[in-house]
Amino acid sequence: MATANKQQQLDAIKQQIIDNKIAPALAATATQLVFGDGNVDADIVFIGEAPGKNEDLQGLPFVGAAGKFLNEMLQTIDLERKDIYITNIVKYRPPDNRDPLPAEKKAFLPYLQSQLEVIQPKVVVTLGRHSLNCFLPDLQISKVHGEPKRVRLSLKDEADVLEVVILPLYHPAAALYNPGQRQTLFADFALIPTILNKI
Ligand code: URA
Repeated sequence: MATANKQQQLDAIKQQIIDNKIAPALAATATQLVFGDGNVDADIVFIGEAPGKNEDLQGLPFVGAAGKFLNEMLQTIDLERKDIYITNIVKYRPPDNRDPLPAEKKAFLPYLQSQLEVIQPKVVVTLGRHSLNCFLPDLQISKVHGEPKRVRLSLKDEADVLEVVILPLYHPAAALYNPGQRQTLFADFALIPTILNKI
């Protein structure tokens, strides 16, 4: 039997989240699961926190104000959404856009690891502290943003590891209305082409 292609494997992971009834309280208040979007063969994966209102309605990550800002920043380094894959740690919208709870992040982590295992990116850009701390729990975003970290990620199948460069960035929603962070985010984004070229 032919091995399922990447998209089929990702579809299967999405279905597992539903079948395994992950974060049932969030699933009950959300419109739908927001799994991920973009190029399944991308070298670079962006990971946000959780869907907001627009993402919940459209079923796609980063389609609201933060997403528009992200698209703008991608343009500055000649990338488009079709060149990257993008997802969130938590895949249902938390009510009133509250921060995801530790238990919710933990529940979704194995599925995020499976997504990375399928896509096999070279660079993982974490957007905001929740995403950074999912992989590197002891680091502070204000101290390490823009500093690429070479890490070996353990995956859902514990025998497997994925060597990636993690680039911690501020979350675009936070930077959108904060001129200082906004400038920092543009400067950190400008590092991406060099990081991709070096790998
Ligand atoms: N913020 C996130 O972290 N993710 C989204 O998908 C949208 C906004």
